[in-house]
Amino acid sequence: MVKKSTCVFISGQGSNLKNLIIHSRNSSFPIKISLVISNNNKANGLFYAKKYKIPYILINTKVKNYENKILLYLKKYKISFICLAGYMKIISSKLIKDYKKKIVNIHPSLLPKYKGLNTFSRMIKNKEKKGGCTVHYVNEKLDGGSKILQKVFFIKESDDEFILKKKTQRLEYKAFPEAIIKVFRKY
Ligand code: GRF
Repeated sequence: MVKKSTCVFISGQGSNLKNLIIHSRNSSFPIKISLVISNNNKANGLFYAKKYKIPYILINTKVKNYENKILLYLKKYKISFICLAGYMKIISSKLIKDYKKKIVNIHPSLLPKYKGLNTFSRMIKNKEKKGGCTVHYVNEKLDGGSKILQKVFFIKESDDEFILKKKTQRLEYKAFPEAIIKVFRKY
């Protein structure tokens, strides 16, 4: 099996990046992580890129046309698939067009509920009974692309934001690799 050369975009903690790196080391997993892109030079996720010797680049999103730099590097590393794992920036339509149905994102809610930021505080405020995560294709609409896979858990009344995050991320570590396998099963 020829693994798809993949770039993971991050901004922070990078626990999903770490999880994907570990899965990608399995010979039957469909992707190889060839590049990490971060818009935050203090992102903890960069530690994993270094630890597992994966090339990484830092992008200054305050610079005009910064996405040209991204596109250049994606070409250089022959990237054919992109995973957004906690990347806190909107992807431009140029990138979405160039990588149509080749960009996936993980979101900490059961989409279409709770698009955007601060999902856990909004869920608590609304006394939601169920939480979860969604892996979906990325299109021009924020958290609006078609769903690949969702995982659900039940919320207890005593669950606070910290616990919701923990429960969600535990599911994310299963959902993201499963969704990637599902995407490539079609090809
Ligand atoms: C995840 O919870 C994901 O759903 C959201 O950002 C978080 C990133 O966490 N998009 P990490 O950086 O992978 O630990």
